[in-house]
Amino acid sequence: STKGQVITCKAAVAWEAKKPLTIEDIEVAPPGPGEVRIKVLSTGVCHTDAYTLDGFDPEGLFPCILGHEGGGIVESVGVGVTSVAEGDHVIPCYIPQCKECKFCKSTKTNLCQKVRTTQGAGVMPDGTKRFKCKGQELYHFMGTSTFSQYTVVAEISVAKVNESAPLEKVCLLGCGISTGYGAALNTAKVEAGSTCAVWGLGAVGLAVAMGCRQAGAAKIIGVDINADKFEVAKQFGVTDFVNPKDHEKPIQQVIVDMTDGGCDYTFECIGNVGTMRAALEACHKGWGQSVIIGVAASGQEISTRPFQLVTGRVWKGTAFGGWKSRDSVPKLVEDYMSKKLMVDEFVTFVKPLSDINTAFDLMHQGKALRTVIDM
Ligand code: APR
Ligand code: ZN
Repeated sequence: STKGQVITCKAAVAWEAKKPLTIEDIEVAPPGPGEVRIKVLSTGVCHTDAYTLDGFDPEGLFPCILGHEGGGIVESVGVGVTSVAEGDHVIPCYIPQCKECKFCKSTKTNLCQKVRTTQGAGVMPDGTKRFKCKGQELYHFMGTSTFSQYTVVAEISVAKVNESAPLEKVCLLGCGISTGYGAALNTAKVEAGSTCAVWGLGAVGLAVAMGCRQAGAAKIIGVDINADKFEVAKQFGVTDFVNPKDHEKPIQQVIVDMTDGGCDYTFECIGNVGTMRAALEACHKGWGQSVIIGVAASGQEISTRPFQLVTGRVWKGTAFGGWKSRDSVPKLVEDYMSKKLMVDEFVTFVKPLSDINTAFDLMHQGKALRTVIDM
């Protein structure tokens, strides 16, 4: 067994911003107290990884190991770990769930704050790192660092899932799919018969559509400037399509006209402050709610006329779909197993770790809902 030993394995290392990842042999230290070492089998590649790699995150730390949409098997656990054991199938969660902090105790949020500071600083909760390459320590990322064949995460960041679930699929429940699906079900609480509109038909927006359909929405309008997205979107529940490029009028006006005064629920899944405004203003007077899911670039600000809110529209947002991670991810996996939740359909490509930069290219080109990396 490798328990207690340093493991040498392959990882995609981000040495500096704006440079492709390079595959390196790295050393992964054993898990400390309250930590778990995971053999990562699969990982998705998501926008936050690209955003950090492209140098847009002013708090990005290099060199580091990116990746936050992974699935794997527990290799060993540190002292005091009780909730998972060697051999368990797990999904690392970038929002942990300590079950002790005031955020965890509140039913109103999933934003556990227990390790927020150290996670943001790219280190384990004790302030140190577990990765080394060429004698240099590497920063952790989002408390997960799944672009490595082995990673070390805090116990409170690990969701134990059904072993019969294919990790090469359910790894995607570590971010994008859960985020969109939960935004519809937990944040908006879409009701049967509702009219919904979703801006951005990537994985996140399509997962929103799937949640709206699950809730019984009568109309789900997909808004995207890439018409190629429309065909695939149908299978996730999108009923109507609007391409802003086909219209002279502001897109919110187009949607309001289509829906007898606006939508009950709208969702922004792009990360653009202009479309965030459009999504809010496409809501019905008196009750329409708009949920921001896309992450805007650092320093950006949203705006609208306050009259939009005075007249009853509501502006909201969530991270990770409002799911309390360790409690919910295992249930989402069960929902996938019972075919209530689609996951396979989000996997456009599968690539080996050695091709991970191609996954970033495919994402930037809008050609992939998700590329899953087979570690
Ligand atoms: N209007 C309409 N659609 C747009 C616009 C726009 N101005 N700009 C981009 N889009 C569409 C793209 O064509 C694409 O289909 O938005 C979609 C975004 O999808 P992806 O790039 O696949 O992103 P996804 O993985 O779904 O994540 C969405 O959520 O993770 C956050 O902020 C992050 O930008 C990311 C967003
Ligand atoms: Zn907590």
